[in-house]
Amino acid sequence: MYTSSPQRLSRVYTPINALEAHAEHLQAQSLSDLIGGESKAACRRATDLAFTLGPLYLDLSKQRITSETLSLLVDWAHSCGLESKRHALFAGDMVNESERRSALHMAARWPADAAPPAGMEEAVEFCQFQRVRLTAMVERLHDANWFGATGQAITDVVHIGVGGSDLGPKMISEALAAGCPSQKRINVHYVSSMDGAQLLPLMERLDPAKTLLVLASKSFTTADTQFNLRTALAWLSEALEIDVPTVCRHQVVGVSAKPEKMSEFGIPTEHQLIFKDWIGGRFSLWSPIGVSVAMQLGIESFDALLAGAHSMDRHFLEAPLMESLPTLVALVGAWNCQFLKIPTHTVLPYDARLKSLPAYLQQLEMESNGKSVCLDGRSVTHATCPIIWGEVGPNAQHAFYQLLHQGGHTVSADFVAVARREIEAPQAVCDLLAAQEQLTLANCLAQAQLFALGDDAIPTVLRGHMAQGYRGNQPNSLLLMKQLDAWSLGALLALYEHKVFVQSVLWNLNPFDQPGVELGKKLATSLFNVISGNALEQSLVKDPSTQQLLNKVVEWR
Ligand code: F6P
Repeated sequence: MYTSSPQRLSRVYTPINALEAHAEHLQAQSLSDLIGGESKAACRRATDLAFTLGPLYLDLSKQRITSETLSLLVDWAHSCGLESKRHALFAGDMVNESERRSALHMAARWPADAAPPAGMEEAVEFCQFQRVRLTAMVERLHDANWFGATGQAITDVVHIGVGGSDLGPKMISEALAAGCPSQKRINVHYVSSMDGAQLLPLMERLDPAKTLLVLASKSFTTADTQFNLRTALAWLSEALEIDVPTVCRHQVVGVSAKPEKMSEFGIPTEHQLIFKDWIGGRFSLWSPIGVSVAMQLGIESFDALLAGAHSMDRHFLEAPLMESLPTLVALVGAWNCQFLKIPTHTVLPYDARLKSLPAYLQQLEMESNGKSVCLDGRSVTHATCPIIWGEVGPNAQHAFYQLLHQGGHTVSADFVAVARREIEAPQAVCDLLAAQEQLTLANCLAQAQLFALGDDAIPTVLRGHMAQGYRGNQPNSLLLMKQLDAWSLGALLALYEHKVFVQSVLWNLNPFDQPGVELGKKLATSLFNVISGNALEQSLVKDPSTQQLLNKVVEWR
């Protein structure tokens, strides 16, 4: 306990000091000690650290925490003013100070028939208006009533965007595409990479007369997206023998916070969907940036996604901190990162439909909280936000789990699993697929157990026969979804969004800006000018290492 040592009594009590002392005390105990066999206390611990919210079940019992840890963490959150900051977020206060904006992505999923919190009304009204326009566009497409420049009905959509304008929509499309009837009518393809490598095969196989481009870019200036758009338009124009402005009028939908730039580019206003600056890029999948999801899955699924996220908003806004799932996940994450000093966190979905969840969370968490200057201008003296990485769990078992079990690195993990799946197939196939699901769940639970307990997970009778040296003590959470549907996925993603916000409050950071990604873009612009033959920019290449690489690139092109 914090107060048990005379040496510590001399320290001023702060929640952080208390947590540091508690961490020191807990370091002496392994997860095996904490989880501890089948005693009553161990059973109570398992129950106390598991939480159910609708179709989501969160198990924190394999984290290196006790109920005392949780109450100290909640004290910390209180001391940071989490409740009032949560209120300020929903009230549309200027929580993104560096960009002088609010952060109101929750407005994009606020239902039409529920009164928004004071301060969010205008934002909700604007989002509702855009949602009506989005719905009309999607219906027009699904009714085979959207015709390309040559008069043929659209069958394929190429969504062009990057970062927040790609990762969320793409991940959702992949997760939910199977089993959505409307996706049979419209095929959606995602293109993000600036090198054209994703675009090229699409240009080879899609019918240009039946292809619609969705240009998703909050700023409408991101080079990656602009270059892909221009190449795709050139392809359509050449193939259809129609000039670019005409193609643009018929076969491009623009989604951006910059309507004037879309108009200047030649996208007609009736094909523009707009969102506002107060929705950050990595929080934008609920806004019209998600239009391609709706085109693929249908409006009903898109609405269900928003409804699930909204229900998590309400839970986050209303639940006491000790019962708030996003808060608990955030607190445990901060505990692992700051107090147990675990530098990396792996996300392991045990369902291949969620294969892009790790990539989506990388941006959400690391672009938001990967910062070391606080809101008050002071430098942070510890790591904020672990390095997030991951892979589909069953495949990762055959790739990097060796290191996690017996290597020297400490890692924390989120296992994400789905309890059941509705499948329409002949009975024999259904039975076999059900067995595959059971096998997957069994593997997920086994790995979570082994991460936590190491050698102690090996049953006594087998100990002499199995290779040992499993390190264990790798803290992990399990997020079990009853099923993977739009509603549950919406709730899960909103949980992670609020996790990020809570951690930003704990670390006193602005999670809504990303100044660290700007300089790289500027340097790339200079180097692009050199590589593409503008010698005037040569002087901007400063270091011999880069100059040498540049020479080689120029020589080989
Ligand atoms: O990489 C930085 C970033 O600004 C992300 O925050 C954003 O999601 C991405 O670029 C794409 O930006 P835009 O939607 O403006 O094209």
